[in-house]
Amino acid sequence: MTAKLINGKEIAQQIREEIRAEVARLQREKSLTPGLVTIIVGEDPASQSYVRGKQKAANDLGFYSVQENLPTNISEKELLALVDKYNKDKKIHGILVQLPLPKHLNEDKVIFAVSPDKDVDAFHPVNVGRLVTGNPLFLPCTPAAIQQLLLRSGVKIEGAEVVVVGRSNIVGKPIANILLQKAAGANATVTICHTRTKDISRHTKRAEILIVAAGKPKTITADMVKPGAVVIDVGINEIGKTTEGKRILVGDVDFAPVSEVAGAITPVPGGVGPMTITMLMLNTLRAAKKVKSLKGKVKNCSKS
Ligand code: GUN
Repeated sequence: MTAKLINGKEIAQQIREEIRAEVARLQREKSLTPGLVTIIVGEDPASQSYVRGKQKAANDLGFYSVQENLPTNISEKELLALVDKYNKDKKIHGILVQLPLPKHLNEDKVIFAVSPDKDVDAFHPVNVGRLVTGNPLFLPCTPAAIQQLLLRSGVKIEGAEVVVVGRSNIVGKPIANILLQKAAGANATVTICHTRTKDISRHTKRAEILIVAAGKPKTITADMVKPGAVVIDVGINEIGKTTEGKRILVGDVDFAPVSEVAGAITPVPGGVGPMTITMLMLNTLRAAKKVKSLKGKVKNCSKS
């Protein structure tokens, strides 16, 4: 392997220590404790595992944290009423409703119901609009994680040729919007590829920074990567289980061969994953501090 490994676990730990220190300061000087509620509907094991990780991080950082485990058959009206209760709860600064929701619940309606000031996922259209127009309140967690991994690994984003593979609302569209902003830690030239792009490798081969969020193993093979490129793999795909029943996870990038071509690469697991929850904690801290806007602070957002 020739590529430098971008260690998400280590960088996440650094940021968590910064958050921990700020939480202690807020408690000491303002008697303020950041509060997060995570709401999960149903029994999906992957969603339950993600939410456990979020609660564990919140508890570990000294947040006030509440978990709502709701039955699959809860009505939309009951769920919306619960969201509204937390919109009004002064001890709660961040509300996270784990997605996907069961089919009888309208996800858009639920996302719209979360107060934009407590929308630590940054999924509400007000927050999407604020990001697109260059005045974000919160950055969505996975894209914020990607930006921090790049910045804290010393990757120059300004003026770089960035190619994003995948156009989801959670990763592809927002990371493209973040990196093309006229702002510190951005100012890149961004291309988005997707399932209807004619020749993906024509684009990926010119990328100095390649961000892959396609949801399919081996979407990116070594012949598709420019020598020396920085490769950020957002994929998490389960390809089987070990004899002990542990999930075997791979990303969207064919890791071993691509590591021989790239200049730097994130592993799966241990790359983007550990950072995402950390960015949720950062958003909750920001919500508690009622930081008005990230404008001009994108680069140092973990310290704002
Ligand atoms: N499901 C998968 N990723 C996410 C996320 O980032 N936020 C929420 N709320 N649900 C998810």
